[in-house]
Amino acid sequence: QHALRLGVAGLGTVGASLVRLVQRHGNELAVRSGRAVVIQAVSARSRGRDRGVDLSAMRWEDDPVALARAEDIDVFVELMGGAEGSALASVNAALDAGKHVVTANKALLAAHGGALARKAEAMGVSLNFEAAAAGGIPIIKTLREALAGNTISRVYGILNGTCNYILTRMEREGLSFDACLAEAQRLGYAEADPTFDIDGHDTAHKLALMTAIAFGSEIDAEAIYVEGIRSITSADIEAADELGYRIKLLGVATRSDSGIEQRVHPTMVPKSSPIARIDGVTNAVAVEADFVGRLVLQGPGAGGDATASAVMSDIADLARGDLIGTFGRPATALAPYRRATMPRHEGGYYIRLS
Ligand code: NDP
Ligand code: HSE
Repeated sequence: QHALRLGVAGLGTVGASLVRLVQRHGNELAVRSGRAVVIQAVSARSRGRDRGVDLSAMRWEDDPVALARAEDIDVFVELMGGAEGSALASVNAALDAGKHVVTANKALLAAHGGALARKAEAMGVSLNFEAAAAGGIPIIKTLREALAGNTISRVYGILNGTCNYILTRMEREGLSFDACLAEAQRLGYAEADPTFDIDGHDTAHKLALMTAIAFGSEIDAEAIYVEGIRSITSADIEAADELGYRIKLLGVATRSDSGIEQRVHPTMVPKSSPIARIDGVTNAVAVEADFVGRLVLQGPGAGGDATASAVMSDIADLARGDLIGTFGRPATALAPYRRATMPRHEGGYYIRLS
């Protein structure tokens, strides 16, 4: 069996880390999965840019759509970002050409995940996205595979590293919002357009994907109530502190008899709660399920290396021959999204955390 040949589109924060990971751990991965993994070809916008990684053994393609269709690749790895444009065109092209797809792109999947998953299934290939939610935390595999024997009633947590990094540094060091955001961008945590982070949309995209797996329903990012952290001031953080709370941007998805409720907003979390103690770029995701009970996963929510680790876990599945469906069930079997009425209380939305 020949090596599993990757075509990687996007060589920024995550793509460059993936190249480094494959170069450093490729041999070990071949032993573990029984099949070598090689990066056959790559694509990005500017060919001449120094990315701090050795690309000399890889073919260069200017056009990610041509890379997605190339005969000499088995897996198209999309790490460019964006819900439309090149990301959508190249993922569609890869699936049409019968290639497996691995992506970290939650914006793309929140908008088109259902249709893309149905196409992948029709073509008999995988569309996997472990890195698209909560960076290095294996929450997709946890919901889809490890908790397959459970009925899940709620998934919630800190899902955006940039926002948690900003809130933590504002609180701990009294830095300004803008200074913290600039640092998060420098460290490679923020989206290309950081308004996705600070206005809550990135958290909403991730929540929509986790909801689809946890509750077996169609993705509906439009149904999410979304409020970001732009208006949070140091005075808000201090006032919360005096009352015994920390302010965290949470994404919460709950299923009840009346339907599904999804919400993203800054939340006053009691300091005694484990979620309140999550600092910096770390994310934490809590899952409530009938047989396992409650579990919490925490770890790096953003950053090149942590995210590349998650991307590689999907690639390792393919090297082993595990063709796991995108949502842990046929995409054609997802139930229609049934929206619950959210209880609205004066001054915002109310949430009680267990
Ligand atoms: P970057 O902005 O650092 O990198 C994007 C890469 O894509 C760049 O190499 C860029 O080329 C290339 N690119 C963009 N548009 C095109 C195009 N039209 N044609 C060819 N190449 C293109 O992004 P990140 O690495 O941070 O993020 C990549 C994806 O991973 C996004 O979907 C993001 O949401 C997701 N993600 C990111 C995480 C993080 O911590 N950064 C964590 C989890 C997911 P060039 O370098 O030449 O400009
Ligand atoms: N911009 C995202 C974040 C990257 O800060 O969490 C990880 O998805």
